[in-house]
Amino acid sequence: MAMTIRQIGPCFAGEAVGIDLSQPLSRQDAASIHAGMDEYAVLVFREQALADDQQLAFTECLGAIEHAIGTSLRDPGKNRLPTTFADVSNLDRQNKPLARDDRSRLFAIGNQLWHSDSSFKPTPAKYSLLNAHSIPSKGGNTEFADMRAAYDALDDETKAQAEGLICEHSQIHSRGKIGFTDFTDEERERFEPVRQVLVRTHPVTGRRSLYLSSHAGGIDGWPVPEANIFLRDLNEHATQRHFVYAHEWRLGDLVIWDNRQVMHRARPFPAEEPRDMRRTTLAGDGPTVPI
Ligand code: OGA
Ligand code: MN
Repeated sequence: MAMTIRQIGPCFAGEAVGIDLSQPLSRQDAASIHAGMDEYAVLVFREQALADDQQLAFTECLGAIEHAIGTSLRDPGKNRLPTTFADVSNLDRQNKPLARDDRSRLFAIGNQLWHSDSSFKPTPAKYSLLNAHSIPSKGGNTEFADMRAAYDALDDETKAQAEGLICEHSQIHSRGKIGFTDFTDEERERFEPVRQVLVRTHPVTGRRSLYLSSHAGGIDGWPVPEANIFLRDLNEHATQRHFVYAHEWRLGDLVIWDNRQVMHRARPFPAEEPRDMRRTTLAGDGPTVPI
């Protein structure tokens, strides 16, 4: 049976059926997934409890992997997962929930701000693929906002204002927004800001989108408070409910999103309950700002 997609979100997001992601991916299925991603920007696959090597094999059929190196505060020697995965869980190596005041847990709470993955890297991520291994009894949804529809809905004056602007992205900025500021000198260096365009054009569809992210904390040539107010207004506009699809996780769900076209955020859940989510990431094509 060929894979088919039905729309589940307000203006984007589709549920794909008729495909088993644990099996080798045919060229045709890979092409259908890319075409589906171009159109829907978020694809949900139900009942795909994948072993790590299966998730990795599936991801590699879609493109080159972006490694998670030095992007969290987890002690590299104590990683639960290899660097081919971003560990989005709240678990330690013994699969026990991190203490409420654990520093890496508090840093990871930054995922509850609207963001686009790796916008703090010179070449930011293309797709993220998240598989649910365990989910809490309540909360813990992931929400997605369509940055294409948000761009389209801007008035002409704001579109003109946003045109050509370049923002500065850093995890220091996003964490600062939730009052997490105690970085070491080494971390400040590692999280040095990178520049990203504010308006992106999709390489296949040609659609324009707002490239917003909690990591953005400045605009080239603008006073900082003015830049932050402008970005805050854009974020408020872009995350109105009619642009948002809220994903309620079921065990074994695999969700893929296109970081070039959507923002996402995690929602809160009980700290003492395990939430084991494992993310593979596809590398982007290159920097958004020519260097
Ligand atoms: C991510 C992320 C949100 C969530 O995997 O990049 O932000 O709900 N996840 O865990
Ligand atoms: Mn994320």
